[in-house]
Amino acid sequence: MEPIQLVDGVYDVGVIDWNVRDFHGYSTDLGTTYNSFLIVDENTVLIDTVRKEFSDQLIDNIAAVIDPKKIDYVISNHTELDHSGGLARVMHRIGEDKPIYASKMGHKNLPKHFRQNLNIQPVTNGQVLSLGKRSLTFLETRMIHWPDSMFTYLNEDKILFSSDGFGQHYAGPEKFDDEVGDKIMVHAKKYFANILLLYATHIQKLLDNVLGLGLEFNMICPDHGIIWRKDPGKIVDAYVRWCRQEPKKKAVVVYDTMWHSTEKMADAIVAGINKEGVPAKPLNLRKTHRSEIMVDIFDAGAVVIGSPTLNNQLYPTLADFLTYLKGLKPLNKIGAAFGSYGWSGEAVKMINKELEALKFDIVDPGLRVQYIPDKEALETCYELGRKVGKAVLA
Ligand code: FEO
Repeated sequence: MEPIQLVDGVYDVGVIDWNVRDFHGYSTDLGTTYNSFLIVDENTVLIDTVRKEFSDQLIDNIAAVIDPKKIDYVISNHTELDHSGGLARVMHRIGEDKPIYASKMGHKNLPKHFRQNLNIQPVTNGQVLSLGKRSLTFLETRMIHWPDSMFTYLNEDKILFSSDGFGQHYAGPEKFDDEVGDKIMVHAKKYFANILLLYATHIQKLLDNVLGLGLEFNMICPDHGIIWRKDPGKIVDAYVRWCRQEPKKKAVVVYDTMWHSTEKMADAIVAGINKEGVPAKPLNLRKTHRSEIMVDIFDAGAVVIGSPTLNNQLYPTLADFLTYLKGLKPLNKIGAAFGSYGWSGEAVKMINKELEALKFDIVDPGLRVQYIPDKEALETCYELGRKVGKAVLA
């Protein structure tokens, strides 16, 4: 990717990672970008770097704008290695004694990622750094996405550099929201549902604080994906809405199956939910990636989960999925469990335990069917679906 001038003297010098397909458990089917921003003023600053493997590309991009040695300091908005992996290489090139500004937690945690002695300077929430003609304000935003996370605001141009916040794992020919159109919202929602959902309540407060400052945003520049310049308010409004986790009147039925018995149960439950006028769909864990399923779960009113029993345990895909789901802690859900079994049938009980831990409102003790569901068993599944549908509408 060549440097892209955002406004006079401000550039995106980041890189495109076309080939990444798994981002700590999240499917990145289109790849992603690691955005990095260069502000050329009386003092020149680089905001965030890129994954280590792309360090040379980053330096080449900087060199296309300015001699990298002219960078006076670096800002690290986030310690995670997709944004700090290139830091050591960049510092080696520009001068290892130059200051790196980071939040207090960044100051504490960045050195734990590098062997080099880096000159990391902690900044406080609201602290202003003058670049000469322009100035930056640091805004502490813990847990968007790690404890070290912060935003940096370019006061004169009203540009927010938001690190992981408002990002999307999207790689494409477009760089701005007005070029890509509405389809980007699907990626932004997937990002929120899989990366930030656990912190949604906290993020809501942070956003209230940041929005309460009355800052205007001419542009929001996340570290992943496209830059919001036409309508930055659109993604801010979406975050405010997403943080509330208000469920829609829809349901998802997530399952895996060994010999198609649990699958037959899933289909009958879906039919019962749909009968109540609540849109529902079955999602087979071996056909749809867990991070795609999270997008559906994110705004669903009900989540029904089915697993065969294998060796007295959950089916392995369900164990994986429930661990992932439990980590993200979606709120305001109705839940139910089901599954076929041969002789022991522990899976339903195990799912219920996880649903309880998630504080889902469990509307049924759960359905177990031995071996292959007959007509009567499928009617019971259908009735469970109707019960779930009614609960969603209640
Ligand atoms: Fe894009 Fe939390 O790193």
